[in-house]
Amino acid sequence: MADKPVVITDQNTQKSLELPVIAGTEGEPTLDIKQLPSELGYFTYDPGFASTAACTSEITFIDGGKGILRYRGYPIEQLAEHSTFLEVACLLLNGDLPDEAELKAFEHDITYHTMVNERLNNFISGFHYDAHPMAMMAGVVGSLAAFYHDKLDMNDPEHRMLAAKRMIAKMPTIAAACYRYHMGWPTAYPNNSLDFCSRFLNMMFSVPAEPYEVSPVAAKALDLLFILHADHEQNASTSTVRLVGSTGANPYACVAAGISALWGPAHGGANEAVLNMLDEIGDVSRVPEFIARAKDRDDPFRLMGFGHRVYKNYDPRASIIRKACHEVLEDLGKTDPLLDLAMELERIALEDEYFVEKKLYPNVDFYSGIIYKAMGFPVSMFTVMFAIARTVGWVAQWLEQCENPTKIGRPRQVYSGPAERDYVPLEKR
Ligand code: SDX
Repeated sequence: MADKPVVITDQNTQKSLELPVIAGTEGEPTLDIKQLPSELGYFTYDPGFASTAACTSEITFIDGGKGILRYRGYPIEQLAEHSTFLEVACLLLNGDLPDEAELKAFEHDITYHTMVNERLNNFISGFHYDAHPMAMMAGVVGSLAAFYHDKLDMNDPEHRMLAAKRMIAKMPTIAAACYRYHMGWPTAYPNNSLDFCSRFLNMMFSVPAEPYEVSPVAAKALDLLFILHADHEQNASTSTVRLVGSTGANPYACVAAGISALWGPAHGGANEAVLNMLDEIGDVSRVPEFIARAKDRDDPFRLMGFGHRVYKNYDPRASIIRKACHEVLEDLGKTDPLLDLAMELERIALEDEYFVEKKLYPNVDFYSGIIYKAMGFPVSMFTVMFAIARTVGWVAQWLEQCENPTKIGRPRQVYSGPAERDYVPLEKR
């Protein structure tokens, strides 16, 4: 393990500086460069923060080379097999697996915060009927601060935990309300006698005109997908939540910012983009054409659901979801030619030297949409599903940052604009 400082020497001044090495739990060495500007007068340049750690965190560990993902030290494969989404949420927020009483208390807290203020429906009805649900979610979640301003003392740990639980509990209610508004259906209220995923499915798909039976297969599959999407260390949307949180903004504003960041097709919006891409490819015979486009630097097309900033191996979540695809489709008595197409696309890509050399593998978004589609979710709701699950990671990371506050996030830049020049009067331009 690298624990001795790294010495750097400025060849222009022969001045040297010892940079301390911070070793993470798994020994991953990180240079502490805080003294660089004051001691050697240099900033560092790292567009996209590909080589920069913005914080220390005890929540999630990823080893991109080995395809390892752990929540609070527990391997994602074991949590996927044995845990539930709310147990994982409790683990991520509190740091360890709850005992039976703690889990029941946590489930109770989430269950009894599922309702939203009825006036929130006025926000939803203000949108055009065909508004994208992620646009609605970002707006409505940001407005929650207007309903809970009495419990927003960010210095009060109880207020912080209450806000965190409120958002975990209310995201499904808001998501379902956005979907039903689009469908022209009346709002369905949370049924607190149901578990988290069954309650959400009931709010999404029940109609007043007839009884609605939640499919236990769908509820179980959804719970698995929510576990897999719950957190992923300092991804773009979580980093956004932390950055907004570093200004002291309220947690609803932080999560609303996270929702907006997640929406991008390079991030959580990829699950929607994958289904659109598979629809566009249409048939296995056209796979080579799209693989060629993905490899063409002059073509902006990328293979959606492939590649990852950190994973240079198979995304462990994608392996689990791919396996679940077959099981869920079979259990639901459904088939989907897009699954066969996705698998053939994966097979061809992983035999292609471009993808092998650049270490591009399927990520969490490549197969998830096929399961959401089989459950009846429209493509436009796929990233909303991601947001419901990732709210747990966002609030867990926000709580961690509140407990160990960093300075306000404020990156620098390399200025490449014009040097100083004098104002030119209009008549002389
Ligand atoms: C998520 O960060 C997280 O943890 C995110 C996430 C989470 O849980 O929060 O895991 C969720 O966002 C998963 C990613 C979903 N996005 C997609 O599936 C969109 C398609 N993928 C890409 O756009 C891309 O792979 C990114 C955005 C995911 C990563 O982009 P990077 O960091 O720029 O990728 P890279 O630097 O590793 O790329 C290496 C090379 C580049 O080519 P060169 O400049 O070296 O010539 O591979 C190319 C990239 O252009 N490349 C692709 C590609 N992904 C990368 N080429 C074709 N198709 C792709 N999908």
